[in-house]
This record gives sequence, C-alpha cells and structure tokens, in this order.
Amino acid sequence: MYVYLNDRIVPAEDAVVSVFDHGFLYGDGIYETMRAYNGIVFMIDEHIERLFRSASLIGLKIPYDSQKLKSAIYETIQANGLENAYIRLTISRGCGSLGLDPEFCQKPSIVIIVKEQKDYPKALYKKGLKVIIAQTRRNLKEAINPRIKSLNFLNNILAKLEAKEKNANEAIMLNVYGKLTEGTISNVFFYKNNMLFTPSIDCGILDGITRGIVIGIAKKQGIEVKEGKFTKSDIYTSQEIFITNTTMEVMPVSELDENKYPVGEISKNLRKLYRQKVKTYIRNYRN
Ligand code: PDD
Repeated sequence: MYVYLNDRIVPAEDAVVSVFDHGFLYGDGIYETMRAYNGIVFMIDEHIERLFRSASLIGLKIPYDSQKLKSAIYETIQANGLENAYIRLTISRGCGSLGLDPEFCQKPSIVIIVKEQKDYPKALYKKGLKVIIAQTRRNLKEAINPRIKSLNFLNNILAKLEAKEKNANEAIMLNVYGKLTEGTISNVFFYKNNMLFTPSIDCGILDGITRGIVIGIAKKQGIEVKEGKFTKSDIYTSQEIFITNTTMEVMPVSELDENKYPVGEISKNLRKLYRQKVKTYIRNYRN
C-alpha cells in the first residue's frame, strides 16, 4: 500500500508525520473523504471546493491549487492499482513548536490514504441500519462550525461511542436547542405525509455532497423536500428514515431508538436514482 505524503508517494510504513504536527497536537487541520468508481473520483470538484472552504474557515492556506490536488489523488489511486477506492485527503497545519499559534507552522502536511472500497453488502441496504439519538450534542455552529470538515472529531467520536454501547451503527446528534442535526459521519433524512425532511444547514451540520444530490433527485421526482428545524418526535413518527454519505450513498434506517421502520419505496427509489447518477457521472467523466 502506498500513501501520498507531501509531494511524494511512499510505502505505507514510511508514511509518518512528526509528533510536532499541529494536526496531531491540536486537531488543527481539515479533510475530505471521496469515493472512486471504476477509476473515476465521484464529484471530485465539489469535494475539492469544500476542502478549500474548510481551509479558508480555519485560515489555512493550501499550498496546492485544485489541479495539483486532483493529480495527487489520481496518482495515489493509480500507485495502489485501485479502481474502486475510498480516498481520505488530509491537510494539517503542519509541524511547529508547542503552542496554538498556527504561525508556528511553516508548511501544511498533505496526506492521501486510499483503500479498496467495494459496495456495502446488499443485505445491509435491504435490512437497514440500527441508529440511536445520542446524548452527546452536536458542536454549536458558533463554536466549531460543522461546515468545517475538520480533524477535530471528538464530538462525533463521543456520539459514536454511545452508538457502539447500544450496538447501533450510527448516532444522530441533536444541537443544544434539541433540534436534529446529523449523524457522526452522515446526514439524515426522514419521510412522512408525502414529504421528505432533512435538517437545514443552520441547525449546525455539514452540507453533505450526497445530501445535496439526494435533495436534487427528490425534487426532480416531484417529492416535496423540507429543510428545517426538527425534533426527535418529528423523526420518531416518520414512515421511512435514511442516512447519506459518500461511502454509504443512501442507506435505510430500520431502527431508531426503540422504534422500527420499514425499508420503504422512497429510500429504495432514491438509492436507485443516486446509483444511476453515479453511473452517468462516471460515463461522462470518461468521455
Ligand atoms: N463523512 N456529516 C458528517 C459529520 C460527515 O462526516 C459526513 C461525511 C457527512 C456526509 O457528507 P458527504 O455526503 O459529503 O460524504 C455528513 C465522511 C464520509 C467521513 O467522515 O469519512
């Protein structure tokens, strides 16, 4: 396995960053997770754009332009001989002396790790996931805005620990006002009364790229989509629930806390249309 580290492709065992890296010391950095299908990185421009946005929100200057980042991503996939890949691009503040001041760090560290990504088992999409609503509240957008896809993941990890404790696959967090936000690595949707609901960005969530695509597809299908502020009881009383992210795509939820939900037609159909969108993108990109 090969890793991209600061302009070079190196064997995984040589891919090390310093203990003085502020990503390690302070969680000071940003990242993106992408997925490649048949050698093509889906929505690469959107991911790179979001990476630059995250960088700008923490005052980090990425020393590459987007073309160079894209080439580095493809170089890493190819060095590993992968066609279908999970791609993790991390940029930390870089090495510096102890202390929070980003000015201590001269040069960001740039790391790209890839691994094979097959489709999740079909049975999982059929069965749906078990999800809980965590006690851990989502970071306030006025504190650490979830729109920054940052290395500071402890908020999500605390919720993930709660999920594990209850043998659940994912945990949805509320914000401090008791409104639904998002999962630890996913966005949340629920369907009832012929409408699709999802927490709005100002609840304090990451504007997931998959979320954006699914909203677009649903609207095109004539489904009314409501982005807003919703409570636990709004989602408990829904007919269908699903979560979205780059790797899982559209994943149905069959259990939320004590309640059970069917894997219904809306989730199935949106998943199918999402897959079609991926296929079309890959085909067009090749041409
Ligand atoms: N997670 N919300 C959070 C907190 C996330 O970490 C993610 C993505 C999403 C969905 O975003 P997208 O549709 O752009 O993947 C929402 C990735 C998969 C990760 O952390 O690896």
